[in-house]
Amino acid sequence: MSTNFETIKFEKNGDFAVLTINREKSLNALNSQVHMELKDLLSVLKENVDGIKGMILTGAGEKAFIAGADIVEMTDMTSDEAYDFATLGQENTLLMEELPFPVIACVNGFALGGGCEMAMSCDFIYATETAVFGQPEVKLGLIPGFGGTQRLAKLVGRNKAKEILYTGRNIKIDEAKDMGLVVKSFSSIEDMMNAANETLTKISHNSPLAVALSKHVMNTGNDLTVSEGLEVEAKYFGEIFSSYDMKEGTKAFVEKRRAEFKGK
Ligand code: CAA
Repeated sequence: MSTNFETIKFEKNGDFAVLTINREKSLNALNSQVHMELKDLLSVLKENVDGIKGMILTGAGEKAFIAGADIVEMTDMTSDEAYDFATLGQENTLLMEELPFPVIACVNGFALGGGCEMAMSCDFIYATETAVFGQPEVKLGLIPGFGGTQRLAKLVGRNKAKEILYTGRNIKIDEAKDMGLVVKSFSSIEDMMNAANETLTKISHNSPLAVALSKHVMNTGNDLTVSEGLEVEAKYFGEIFSSYDMKEGTKAFVEKRRAEFKGK
């Protein structure tokens, strides 16, 4: 896989990978180039030929995770170009959700607009105590374009999301945790990255197939009624019974030993 990118950095260490948005001077703002490089990378990662068991998404530097879509680039966009830009960004959020392994957003500062939207497309969010979230698009005469009108409402409830979107206000870490947007906060970037690696390690001891299917069923169910979602759950619950990992996991329990999962 080519890892020769200009605006993103992809590093694989053993079973895990770190994907960094790498435009520190612009506070990692998402321009078209970032999105095109992300699309190239995420499309390959979706097939997971390297057997990655977990990934961290973060931003370069200490100030920002992602300070939003690139406002400088958007200034001159036509309506058609803006539509294409939003569609490209949305494709990447969908690709992130479809990766067959867990992705933790490690938010190291500002996660505004498109930054908050990218973080919400990950499986869950860890953040530093100084992190700031928000959807400030209305302050720029815009609306969110990479999923903020949809995912924030599903995460924190529609009325809370409306209040956040209409005011465009900043959300500090305690509130972000209270509303369930952030799962855990840390006093330093180093502590956050270590904790994310520990969480990925803990997850990797489980069946990778079962983790991937849990992710798939939960994300699919997000767009369905409860009874439709339960049907999807039953379908995959049935299918997983013909997997090696299910036989191994249940047998290991009965034999009182640690399971050796293969992810198939
Ligand atoms: N796009 C382009 N450049 C950005 C940027 C963005 N979203 N955010 C910051 N930058 C640039 C600044 O222009 C500045 O560049 P120069 O040094 O060349 O002037 C550099 O990053 C550092 O930023 P600041 O000097 O502004 O840093 P600060 O500490 O004073 O403020 C901030 C930090 C509060 C995050 C401020 O930069 C800011 O408000 N940024 C914009 C946040 C925003 O509105 N995001 C939403 C964008 S719209 C969107 O995302 C739409 C969508 O859903 C698709």
